[in-house]
Amino acid sequence: DPVYLNGQYLPLADAGISPLDRGFLYGDGVYEVIPVYSRQAFRIDEHLQRLQATLAGIHMTNPLAVDDWKTVIFKLINAAPWDDQSIYLQVTRGADNKRDHAFPSPPVAPTAFAFASPLVTTPAETRATGVAAITVPDLRWGRCDLKVISLLANVLARQQAVEAGCAEALLIRDGLLKEGAASNIFVVKDGVLLAPPKTQLMLPGITYDVILELAESRGQPLEIREIAETELRAADEVWMTSSTKEVLAITTLDGQPVGSGRPGPVGERMWQWYQDFKNTVM
Ligand code: PDD
Repeated sequence: DPVYLNGQYLPLADAGISPLDRGFLYGDGVYEVIPVYSRQAFRIDEHLQRLQATLAGIHMTNPLAVDDWKTVIFKLINAAPWDDQSIYLQVTRGADNKRDHAFPSPPVAPTAFAFASPLVTTPAETRATGVAAITVPDLRWGRCDLKVISLLANVLARQQAVEAGCAEALLIRDGLLKEGAASNIFVVKDGVLLAPPKTQLMLPGITYDVILELAESRGQPLEIREIAETELRAADEVWMTSSTKEVLAITTLDGQPVGSGRPGPVGERMWQWYQDFKNTVM
């Protein structure tokens, strides 16, 4: 199946970029991950809006109009052999003919890349037990609201989790829970769903927004506010959300059980609401 690179559809093996590409040299670029169910891109407008916001945040103009991105995405989906997919989009500031931190002047053509892969879903057995996570200090920069490809702090945090036999690392900054290395985190205490607010220190997840909409429309008590590390440790439920993980319970945190040590009722209900919602809009 083909990949998309700078206006062309070609086999992955033929898709080449310059070693002077600023994505490669500086991590100077942005990305999106869009889930596809039954060959339909979920929340595509919201993902493309976040792509636009991130590009604006790094002072880049979008190389493609929204409708052109949609054409690329539909072509990749239809050329791929899987019904459920994950579409990856990346835009970098392109390749200059010299190395300089400042933007190329005059500007060079950006690099736009996209490809489809099969959606890796969580097995039912894993969902039934939940997963383990660790907490780590949040060492990222001050614009975590931008979905940029410079992901070294996230990479190191997730690797630390893997080496501890865990599925995710929860990032703590100034005593507050921000999010996971590649997910947003929700907490339940005494039946109330707690969600960290959207600030520059958290990625505004597309799944996060769906969860808030579902909580509000179905009468799930909800508080959007900062969550202290101490509250995280005393939680009845903790779950992670993302485009690929959907809603997944964290039942062990730093080796200690979360609440009962099993997925809790609020998260179970939310997972079901999420499935129902997906099935009605797809
Ligand atoms: N990660 N926070 C971070 C740091 C993330 O990297 C992600 C997504 C999320 C959840 O956002 P969304 O619900 O829009 O997927 C939160 C993607 C899946 C990734 O990097 O692969």
